[in-house]
Amino acid sequence: MTTAWITGASSGIGEALARRLAATGRPVVASARSAVALDALAAAAAGRIRSHALDVTDAEACAQAVAAIEAEAGPIGLAVLNAGTHAPMSADDFSVATARRLVEVNLMGVVNCLAPLLERMRARRSGHIAIVASVAGYGGLPTAAAYGATKAALINMAQSLKLDCDRLGIKLQLVNPGFVKTPLTDRNEFPMPFLMPVEDAVTALVAGLAGNRFEIAFPRRFALLLRLLNAMPEAAYFAAVRRFTGR
Ligand SMILES: NC(=O)c1ccc[n+]([C@@H]2O[C@H](COP(=O)([O-])OP(=O)(O)OC[C@H]3O[C@@H](n4cnc5c(N)ncnc54)[C@H](OP(=O)(O)O)[C@@H]3O)[C@@H](O)[C@H]2O)c1
Repeated sequence: MTTAWITGASSGIGEALARRLAATGRPVVASARSAVALDALAAAAAGRIRSHALDVTDAEACAQAVAAIEAEAGPIGLAVLNAGTHAPMSADDFSVATARRLVEVNLMGVVNCLAPLLERMRARRSGHIAIVASVAGYGGLPTAAAYGATKAALINMAQSLKLDCDRLGIKLQLVNPGFVKTPLTDRNEFPMPFLMPVEDAVTALVAGLAGNRFEIAFPRRFALLLRLLNAMPEAAYFAAVRRFTGR
């Protein structure tokens, strides 16, 4: 099995995915900023997980990380670009700093990893990349003015790249989680419909990665509901979102 590289693997979905893939015998390289958390993850995995600390906002460091990982662990066969963060932002607390931070981590963090990965996978004419966005990228939701915008950009970018990657022999998938119980959502102070345990999310994610659907969305009912809402005329969409969220 080729090496799997997971960004944002020091907690939440990325950490649980690293453990799950390693348990199947797949060599995994886990990246995030927190070297301490990554080392603990690697130590518990009896040599099947390597730790490679990385800040995805640093483009040069991302290029160096891909080169170093491939030199040490062989070609990256699967990259799950999962590193991301959330900060609420609305018209009441609209902030350039918040928007810039989320763009740097959620959007540019993926871009910084994609550049060296695509270069190498293009040359090999093989590889598998999964971009983790969110169902919050389907359409505008309350307090997600910055987060939702970064995830909408990732959805658009993944759709665009898929058209090329099919021709290049690279499997490109888009991961759109709904609410999953992780340190990221533990900060939310609003009710989260269809909140999913992280292990169930990883089961859905692993199944999706093994399949050929472009979009891996879970829980499916919540993703479908949001898709339907977004297909409605805008007046009906806003009315429904207001009703569900009390805004
Ligand atoms: N949980 C949900 O309900 C949900 C829903 C939709 C989408 N998602 C997406 O799923 C992904 C994982 O989220 P999660 O819920 O598992 O959150 P989480 O537990 O907060 O994990 C986020 C991961 O990203 C890493 N990270 C943050 N900034 C980074 C940076 N600059 N460079 C490298 N790594 C960085 C964090 O590690 P360090 O702090 O150590 O760097 C951590 O490992 C995110 O992209 C998130 O937007 C989550």
